[in-house]
Amino acid sequence: MVHEKLRTFIEGFRREAHPMAIMCGIVGALSAFYHNSLDINNEEHRRRTALRLIAKMPTLAAMSYKYARGEPFVYPRNDLDYAENFLHMMFATPCEDYEISPVIARAMDRILLLHADHEQNASTSTVRMAGSTGANPYACVAAGIAALWGPAHGGANEAVLNMLDEIGHERNLDKFVAKAKDRDDPFRLMGFGHRVYKSYDPRAKVMQQTCDEVLNELGVEDNPTLRMAQRLEKIALEDSYFVEKRLYPNVDFYSGIILKAIGIPVEMFTVIFATGRTPGWIAHWNEMIGGAYRLGRPRQLYQGHQRRDFVPVGTLLCRLPSRVWSFASRNTAPRASASGIHGCKSALIRPFERSISSNMAGCSPQSPVQRDGDSEFSLSRLPQTEAPGTGRVTNRFGIRDQSFSRVIRLEVSQRLPPLACTSA
Ligand SMILES: CC(C)(COP(=O)(O)OP(=O)(O)OC[C@H]1O[C@@H](n2cnc3c(N)ncnc32)[C@H](O)[C@@H]1OP(=O)(O)O)[C@@H](O)C(=O)NCCC(=O)NCCS
Repeated sequence: MVHEKLRTFIEGFRREAHPMAIMCGIVGALSAFYHNSLDINNEEHRRRTALRLIAKMPTLAAMSYKYARGEPFVYPRNDLDYAENFLHMMFATPCEDYEISPVIARAMDRILLLHADHEQNASTSTVRMAGSTGANPYACVAAGIAALWGPAHGGANEAVLNMLDEIGHERNLDKFVAKAKDRDDPFRLMGFGHRVYKSYDPRAKVMQQTCDEVLNELGVEDNPTLRMAQRLEKIALEDSYFVEKRLYPNVDFYSGIILKAIGIPVEMFTVIFATGRTPGWIAHWNEMIGGAYRLGRPRQLYQGHQRRDFVPVGTLLCRLPSRVWSFASRNTAPRASASGIHGCKSALIRPFERSISSNMAGCSPQSPVQRDGDSEFSLSRLPQTEAPGTGRVTNRFGIRDQSFSRVIRLEVSQRLPPLACTSA
């Protein structure tokens, strides 16, 4: 169970909030509940924290799902095991119990188990990095959840389902397999191949068998997406391209299909991954804090300019104008005044003169990037304004200094004849 106060915390989220956003928030918020009773240097406190986190994750995960559906939260039951409890909290309602199929419960158990740990992946390293500062472990795990959220990490099983959606129909499979094999086409079969496992992902073998069991239990005849996945697996396992390159279906291919078959919405896939990964995260954290550790502090290799002149902050604002503008004759070009830039009240714009004129004349909204020494600038036109009755038109421009990534606004006022600008 979780503290009742967490209900009101969750209720503060919008209904359409992504469940991973909710998880980042509420797992981090657990710090507020247990901070005072936690001494990270006390082994017993750390053990209790690990148990709490592992126990509460499925409850919070299911709450994030129920909240999005507008259904009441379902409390855990002590007579059910971990995976059964999760299914119960996800799918039971106060008016109807959820009949837990042992096949589905075993599949869920395996999914959680197979995701429990996978050495120094991005989210685990994130948890360790945050933990190395001595931060509260709930906050560290929240950081891990944030890192897991990205599609390059925990989102791969979701990508499998998105790919199947993109393929759309069994009749398109050959076309997409050909695309995947085409070196000039960026399309890849999601859920195939692995950076480390070049023979076969051992987890995928277990998942493949589990997938068969689940699809048999539920029957996939009526589900075109699952049927398509089965055909795709068969094609790829027999196709010489995939066989020669050892591109086997990976754990994400099968877990995505299993979760879809169980009726879990795609946006919950990464939440389930996070629930499964929590024992791994907290084990890494505990191992680190229990031993000798130092603050994580990666070194940075500077690859920028070798030498830059020192410019005091006060004059930094003038840097762009002094490089770009020349303070020349006042009558030959549009008078310019730059807001917020010292000493440039009536500067004349030399290097940009031509592009400003063409901007004014042709109203093109963006000039090409221009070089000034080793710096690059681009000019963009902002909406034109007209002072009624004065015959004065003001054009405003933004100069983006590519090297500083900042925009300086510049105003150019002119008397009529007004510029033939039609669009802002
Ligand atoms: C997981 C993955 C990133 C591993 O990549 P990798 O170890 O760097 O392997 P490479 O990208 O070097 O691929 C080797 C060759 O196989 C091809 N290949 C790899 N995965 C492929 C896939 N899923 N579909 C089609 N071709 C693939 C590459 O195009 C490359 O071909 P080439 O030798 O003609 O250049 C990659 O297989 C992939 O993108 N898979 C799909 C995404 C996925 O399922 N991710 C979850 C992983 S758990």
